[in-house]
Parts: sequence; structure tokens; C-alpha cells
Amino acid sequence: MVDLRVNIAGVELANPIMTASGTCGYATEYADFVDLTQLGAFVTKSITPAPRVGNPPDRIVETRAGMLNAIGLANVGLQRFLDEKIPELETLGLPVFVNVAGAYLEDYITVTEALADVPIVRGIELNISCPNVKEGGIAFGVDPRQVKLVTEAVKAVCGKNILIVKLSPNVTDIAETAAAAVEGGADALSLINTFTAMAIDVEKRRPLLANNTGGLSGPAIHPVAVYMVHRVYTRVARPAGVPLIAMGGVQYWRDAVEFLLAGATGVAVGAALFADPRCLLALRDGIAAYLDRQGAASVTDIIGTLRLN
Ligand SMILES: Cc1cc2nc3c(=O)[nH]c(=O)nc-3n(C[C@H](O)[C@H](O)[C@H](O)COP(=O)(O)O)c2cc1C
Repeated sequence: MVDLRVNIAGVELANPIMTASGTCGYATEYADFVDLTQLGAFVTKSITPAPRVGNPPDRIVETRAGMLNAIGLANVGLQRFLDEKIPELETLGLPVFVNVAGAYLEDYITVTEALADVPIVRGIELNISCPNVKEGGIAFGVDPRQVKLVTEAVKAVCGKNILIVKLSPNVTDIAETAAAAVEGGADALSLINTFTAMAIDVEKRRPLLANNTGGLSGPAIHPVAVYMVHRVYTRVARPAGVPLIAMGGVQYWRDAVEFLLAGATGVAVGAALFADPRCLLALRDGIAAYLDRQGAASVTDIIGTLRLN
């Protein structure tokens, strides 16, 4: 039996597999399709202080090798999350990482503070791909200075929870924003969020998404995500001893193993869940079989062991 346990900044996970924020709701939505208790951790949809209805439809479009979404952070808001969703999440018996979003720095602080003493919550994942309303709508996550500021401010109110900063790929060099998050006190980094993208209905000469633009995810982004994980691991995470959670186009066990070899400790799955939620367990079992074939006793034996040509 290979040992699949990993440790993300002090949080012990039974295996590296988790859900990617926004693609598995608050867990109950998928309860009929897959036994989520078998995961390493559960990551929630982005939570904001007030409820949000999100963008009008169409807000999801399938592309040739992925999907475009412009959900607009639709969520039940902090109070309903605490009252209704936390008790449901407790039944999973897994570490829960709550993804937190906001238009202002204060939004992140409000939600993070409210979760500091909730036992089932073990980490806050900071979605910094949101436009900062105060700074003219530029996403927090594209400016290293702002990444450091928001990380520092949120870290100060995390309490027992670890702080995972989720990096945007919509930057020139993701190692710069990764370094800023680590300087700000991030306990772990997750990457990548979606790529800003557009698809056009040529007959109507209009974008397919009501929001015009959206975020690209799925198989199309996987090799770029692997490169970014490798770059962040070698430049920032390994030297600083900060664990990485990788996501972007994971569908088969091989995709997850690529991330582990490139330096990720955890692997999250998003778009692939829409086609087959059970792929989560197939991934876990595929990693175990791979480790067995490689003669590795533990998944930690292969993390970051990529050999460059
Ligand atoms: C429909 C949908 C909704 C998403 N919602 C969120 C969200 O609320 N917060 C967030 O940080 N990321 C969100 N994401 C991004 C995913 O968590 C993930 O970073 C990205 O999709 C790449 O992984 P994948 O290719 O496996 O989907 C969303 C992605 C999709 C497809």
C-alpha cells in the first residue's frame, strides 16, 4: 500500500486530490455522484460578504479544448454560508479550504475573520483574480505590490487557518506575484486560476458569453499550468519551503502526476468534474498505481522530482 498522505502547511490530507473552487458548489450538489469523503480536502466556491446572483446567462461556453466561464462569483454570501453550508460541509469530515473573494480589501477581511474559529475550516484560499474596485478595477492578483498588501492584511486575521494565495495566470511572470504572496506571509500558493479569454458567435458577430469575456479552463490550459507550477516551484516555493496546490486541466492521473513531479503537493480538479465527477477517485487510484509501478512508498517521494533535460 502506497502512502498518499500529504501535508499542506500543517494541514494533513489523506491524499493530494481536492476540488477546484467554483466547480463543486458547497459539496451537497455532487453528493449523489461521487463520494467526496474520499478526497484529500474540499475547496468551496468563492464566498463574498453579501450574496451575489452573478452574471446573466450565457455564463458558460464550451470551447474546443476547454470551457469559458463568466459566472460572476455567484454565491450565497457569508451569513448563509455559515448558517447552512458549514453544517453540511462538516458531514464530509475533510479539511475544508474556503475560497474568499472581494471587490475591496475589507471584503476579504470580513469573510476571513468570520471563518477564523470554524473548526472544519482549515484554510482560506484567497481569490485575487477579482477586480479591485478602489484601484480602478485592476485585478488584485496582477500587481505584485497589491498581492503583498492583500496577503499581509488577510494573514493578520486568519487565526488558526492557513492562508493559500491563488495566483492568476494573467501576468507576465507568475514567479513575481508568487514571490509577493510569500513575502506577504502566504502559507501555501495555489495556481492557476483561469485565463481571460473570449469566444465569438460569428453569425451574430457577438461574444458567446453575456459578459463578453470569461475565464478559460480545462485541457487547453494544462501544459501552461504545468509550466507555471514548475516555474513557481523552482523560483519561489522550493527555496521558501512553501507548498503548492496545482490546478488547470486535470482530467486523468497522468495530468495530476505531471503537477506532482513539477512540484505540487496538492492537485485540484475543476472543469473535468462537469464531464465526470467520479474522475476525482480515478485520479487518486491512478496516482497510487503509478507510485506502485515506480517503486515509491509515498507520494511525497515524487513531489518536485522532475529531471530537466
Ligand atoms: C465554472 C467555474 C467556476 C469557477 N469559479 C471560481 C471561483 O468562484 N473562485 C476561484 O477562485 N476560481 C474559480 N474557478 C477557477 C477554478 O477553480 C480553477 O482555478 C480553473 O478552472 C482551472 O482548473 P480546471 O482547468 O481544472 O478547471 C472556476 C472555474 C470554473 C470552470
